[in-house]
Amino acid sequence: MARLPAGVVVISARLEDEFRGLTASSLVSISLEPPLVLAGLERESATRAAILETKAFNVSLLTRSQEFIADRFAGRAPAMDPQWRTLPHRIGANGIPLLEGCAAWLECRLVEVHAAGDHDICVGEVTAAATGRGDPLILWDRAFWTLH
Ligand SMILES: Cc1cc2nc3c(=O)[nH]c(=O)nc-3n(C[C@H](O)[C@H](O)[C@H](O)COP(=O)(O)O)c2cc1C
Repeated sequence: MARLPAGVVVISARLEDEFRGLTASSLVSISLEPPLVLAGLERESATRAAILETKAFNVSLLTRSQEFIADRFAGRAPAMDPQWRTLPHRIGANGIPLLEGCAAWLECRLVEVHAAGDHDICVGEVTAAATGRGDPLILWDRAFWTLH
């Protein structure tokens, strides 16, 4: 699967005053009517636990210049503080943070969860969407790339 290019996103959630987020390459568009996306989330992920509890999540589509953010939300760089004070963000209509400077954003309501091995397939209905600027961050062959 390392040979399959995939967009890189941060999936975020909120548990009371605590923000959570993880880097993901498993986001897929599924349905237009209603608008549905899915993501495969590790069973051990703290973000997945918050999403299942609150039944909501947001998606920030990273750009090439946000590679350091992908590393941070993958646990490969200094951990995020629970209010993301060191990272520019805004709060979506659903109360969940979205990262600033991204290529696009989604706000989602969790509508289905399917167990799949050591991950859960989480299906979200998109309740709000917006586009930003910048070339997408792409994962291919275990490294980050962009379109040109
Ligand atoms: C490029 C990349 C893609 C990833 N894609 C996923 C993914 O699709 N689903 C997932 O559960 N974890 C994925 N991970 C791993 C999570 O980002 C990582 O386990 C994270 O630390 C989980 O954080 P949490 O426990 O705070 O939720 C990916 C990591 C990287 C670097």
